[in-house]
Amino acid sequence: MPQHSAILGTGSYLPRRAVSNQELTDFLAAKGVETSAEWIQTRTGILQRHFAEGDETNTSMATAAAKQALAKAGVDAQSVDLIILATSTPDQIFPSTACGVQAALGAQRAMAFDIQAVCSGFVYALTVADSMIRSGQVRNALVIGSEVFSRLMDWMDRTTCVLFGDGAGAAFLQVSEEPGVLGCELKADGTLGCILNADGRIENGRIVGDPFLRMDGQAVFKQAVSVLGSSAISLFESVDFQLDQLDFLVPHQANVRILHAVARKLKLPESRVVVTVGQHGNTSAASVPLALDLAVSSGLIKKGHNVLLQGVGGGFTWGSVLVRM
Ligand SMILES: CC(C)(COP(=O)(O)OP(=O)(O)OC[C@H]1O[C@@H](n2cnc3c(N)ncnc32)[C@H](O)[C@@H]1OP(=O)(O)O)[C@@H](O)C(=O)NCCC(=O)NCCS
Repeated sequence: MPQHSAILGTGSYLPRRAVSNQELTDFLAAKGVETSAEWIQTRTGILQRHFAEGDETNTSMATAAAKQALAKAGVDAQSVDLIILATSTPDQIFPSTACGVQAALGAQRAMAFDIQAVCSGFVYALTVADSMIRSGQVRNALVIGSEVFSRLMDWMDRTTCVLFGDGAGAAFLQVSEEPGVLGCELKADGTLGCILNADGRIENGRIVGDPFLRMDGQAVFKQAVSVLGSSAISLFESVDFQLDQLDFLVPHQANVRILHAVARKLKLPESRVVVTVGQHGNTSAASVPLALDLAVSSGLIKKGHNVLLQGVGGGFTWGSVLVRM
């Protein structure tokens, strides 16, 4: 009997502090940076985002999301075989944030590592976990996306600092006779690294290069719409899946205009697209598991639904995972 992996539980964590467009606009105005709540909402669909406070770290947020996913799956931390954490904003260079989560959960048996694929991180991590479960190396996996992008923002750059937020989401996967994960497709194009990057690094005790996130918004926008559409179509073809069998699309939450453009490209009604960017902003690797958990917790996504999870972001990276919940 071929083995599959299936999602048994999801979880999420949002920092306590929600910041509305107006609050952010007022904060930026005090620095002489001109924007407006209306511009942010109409150009991106974002109404608010959450920002981590001093005691809210990548590790603490990821741990909270992971605990929820384990509780919903009815599994205790000691049974976890594998923890993969997708992030571009780890708490430190090393040890990995995944190891911090392993310690905080008391998941002594689990191997643990981070994956860095920026906003595609969760679908990259899910694909690796699915492969390790199907190959029999592990029986289960905690897959987490957790980010504190607020710490990479240049508050003098209005073209980026209004877009991002912090948070964490998680999914618990277990070996299963029935899928579960129906198919995965990951892609990258390193020649486009310059359109979205955080260039800085630590060298000889000093930050060298630009420590802030930089983005060519229009280039990223066009690339995102193009690759999300083509990735969905090629994954569906490779697993012989018809678009009309899809119940929900849970795409990376960057800009509501990108999500609607992808839905139009796939001829998918907007009601089938899970949209949380209004409440969360762009939380990078956390955005897909946060949106998935919200849709599951609210009862929108139910057991048996076919769901397409899609990530796109810096690298340039993108990917799709088709799951039967
Ligand atoms: C960033 C983004 C919202 C900008 O929207 P846009 O409609 O493309 O806007 P433009 O870049 O054409 O800028 C239009 C104008 O708004 C201005 N503008 C940019 N940010 C602004 C802000 N926060 N407030 C007010 N004006 C702003 C620009 O300076 C420009 O002014 P100009 O015409 O006088 O030069 C959009 O390109 C986007 O969402 N890109 C993808 C971002 C993304 O998905 N990133 C993560 C992927 S993982």
